[in-house]
Amino acid sequence: MYYPDEILEQVRAGNDIVDVVGSYVHLKKQGANYFGLCPFHNEKSPSFSVSADKQIFYCFGCGAGGNVITFLMKYENYSFQEAVKALAERAGIRLPEAEYGEEAKKREQHRRELFDINREAATYYYRMLRSPRGAAGMRYLEGRGLTAETIHRFGLGFADGSGSDLVAFLRKKGFPDDSILESGVAAYDEKRGLHDKFWNRVMFPIMDVNSRVIGFGGRVMGDGKPKYLNSPETPIFDKGRNLYGLHLAKRSRTEQFILCEGYMDVIAMHQAGFPQAVASLGTAFTSGQASILKRYAKEILLSYDSDEAGMRAALRNNGILREAALRSRVLDLRPYKDPDEFMKNLGADEFRKRIDAAENSFFYELRMLERNFAMDDPAGRTDFCREAAKRLGVFEDEIERDNYIEAVAARYFIDKGSLRRMVGSYTEAGELIRAPERPKPAAPRKKEGGITPETRAQAWLLTWMAEDRAVFAQVSRYIRPEDFAEGIPRTVAERFYADPKPGSIAAIISVFPEESEQNRAATLFNSRFELPEGRENQEKALHDVVLSVKQSSGRRRAAELAGDPNALQEIIRSKKELEELKTAVFCIDTEKGREQDG
Ligand code: GTP
Ligand code: MN
Repeated sequence: MYYPDEILEQVRAGNDIVDVVGSYVHLKKQGANYFGLCPFHNEKSPSFSVSADKQIFYCFGCGAGGNVITFLMKYENYSFQEAVKALAERAGIRLPEAEYGEEAKKREQHRRELFDINREAATYYYRMLRSPRGAAGMRYLEGRGLTAETIHRFGLGFADGSGSDLVAFLRKKGFPDDSILESGVAAYDEKRGLHDKFWNRVMFPIMDVNSRVIGFGGRVMGDGKPKYLNSPETPIFDKGRNLYGLHLAKRSRTEQFILCEGYMDVIAMHQAGFPQAVASLGTAFTSGQASILKRYAKEILLSYDSDEAGMRAALRNNGILREAALRSRVLDLRPYKDPDEFMKNLGADEFRKRIDAAENSFFYELRMLERNFAMDDPAGRTDFCREAAKRLGVFEDEIERDNYIEAVAARYFIDKGSLRRMVGSYTEAGELIRAPERPKPAAPRKKEGGITPETRAQAWLLTWMAEDRAVFAQVSRYIRPEDFAEGIPRTVAERFYADPKPGSIAAIISVFPEESEQNRAATLFNSRFELPEGRENQEKALHDVVLSVKQSSGRRRAAELAGDPNALQEIIRSKKELEELKTAVFCIDTEKGREQDG
């Protein structure tokens, strides 16, 4: 472990999870728990719960869960250690020097090394740009209208053309070759060995939300190919969960962010006085990026290229933003190609006017749709109306849908009543409506609980025992920690049995240093189960679960002992126990009423 258990527990207990999560997510009290929209996946109705008793969070939608440390790890992209540090600071607790286990130490060091290498490389490029060898780069950037201040603010740099100077520089700083390679600033082949990845390019460092360099984009100065060369993804560079310019935009104090296509667009926008501009990282905009934007903004203005590709991207991303429950509008920059050109020609005041005039994303979609129909032909118009009605079904909120129906009817001279009926017929038929160019959504995030059918019964039991002390008292006569599957379930059970109350659950979770393990541990206490009606039936349900956990434990044990002549006694004993359990009676106090999450 990183820190002594007592310190860890002091830090965890010193940070009430409701306060901490509440500073990131809008929470509403509901019964014993708090609910809000999950920051880890896109949803419109809250399935993200925070329990004050158990001091844990859990999302019934995506399975994310854990204690306050897990939350910061996930939300801020922190390692375990970074999260503990932040929480200690928050609670005013002084941390001793961390003690590392071997593996944890390696992981932590490796991550830190990748950050260090990226930072050193950024410094190297930055200096190069300002040296005689960087003159061509400086000329290029100035030629594109960037001021010295802007070049500095974005930490722009230059990689010149001489092979492996950066690698040599990093080696001299003491970084090992395999880390230099993994950081993405170098490449390897047999002929050249380890060599610089970026040659003769102006360099755009990419920073995470905490202003740490995590990768680079390098642009050729002219028409070479590829126009941009980007760092590959690494353990610290996730292209789907970072945005270019976000570290600056998050301080812009505006609820309206501007999403652009390119690095240069973001830079031009910031220079013109729009620090709320961000861009995706040379890859398609993702729903992960949408949920990150949602932390800072209420509305997104899409500021995409005016060409066909830009329009397609705007359509697609409108869909992603809508699923994230973020409002969006689309900017029209014509006759200019992109925000960069627009700024150069018309300037900030005109751009502000375009912002005011930005088109509602739904009408934008309809306008794009129109192009596929012969609008001056009654048959074509009818088909268009049908398609429009289908799409109106995406608005789940009835008032919102109604407002849109009214607006569409007015705009396209359709009778309101007929349009409403048409929309109704589609939504009742349950036809799912999506923008046409919307590709298949990325594979749904896998449930993070890692629950198998066998552990499901165990999770059921742990959840129930944690919620009802009387249930624990009865169940623990038959089920012992050894009856839980080896690994996380057993560790969790051992700790819980030692101190069986809701308040000890969060401490159990920080036993595990990996976010995924913390998540699995939290899942064991958040099994969602429906109880049958009536006391008798519930008692029977409890009996069945206990029996099933005991049986599978017996099977596991028998397999372990197979062929062991000394095991006979144990097997006989466990058979007897099982027989006893079959006729055991459990009592549930239904009057008390179970508190159920969700
Ligand atoms: P300028 O053309 O210099 O104004 O840059 P830009 O940022 O406006 O580029 P553009 O609009 O052509 O492309 C938008 C974004 O797509 C860029 O910022 C890059 O992130 C990415 N991109 C463009 N070209 C390439 C390429 O050749 N390879 C990769 N990997 N990404 C690219
Ligand atoms: Mn451009």
